[in-house]
Amino acid sequence: MLFDPGPKESRADLFGRDEELGRISNFLSSSSRLLVIYGIRRIGKTSVLKVALNESRIPYCYIDAKALEGDLSVRRLYGLVSRCLSEVAVRFRLEDVIRRIARSLHGVHVLGSGVDLSIIY
Ligand SMILES: Nc1ncnc2c1ncn2[C@@H]1O[C@H](COP(=O)(O)OP(=O)(O)OP(=O)(O)O)[C@@H](O)[C@H]1O
Ligand SMILES: [Mg+2]
Repeated sequence: MLFDPGPKESRADLFGRDEELGRISNFLSSSSRLLVIYGIRRIGKTSVLKVALNESRIPYCYIDAKALEGDLSVRRLYGLVSRCLSEVAVRFRLEDVIRRIARSLHGVHVLGSGVDLSIIY
């Protein structure tokens, strides 16, 4: 939606960012590990990232660290990671993969029929 105050998710809604999308797409298909997108507030950083990730079809977990404002705790961070992994499991049908990985990780539990992660620390 054009005037949605949230980040754009599809290229059709994102204007004038083809070059940036191309560069992020090149990054995603390379072996590079770190990408920094910087710019002034509300310039469209999150939007270009989300559109590029959605077009790549790579399963991804998006965590907005702004959600830690006011509660900068490990519990809160783990809560965000849990929620994100649960969403990615459903969205990309990765329940079994995540369940298998979780079995070999200390302190990570997958509960129930969906993926309900509780991280114990
Ligand atoms: N190129 C664009 N085309 C259409 N809408 C855009 C574009 N760039 C930004 N917007 C819109 O502007 C607003 C801010 O975009 P976005 O959240 O992606 O920016 P940001 O740089 O990540 O912001 P912040 O600094 O708050 O993290 C959103 O409503 C988004 O949809
Ligand atoms: Mg942003």
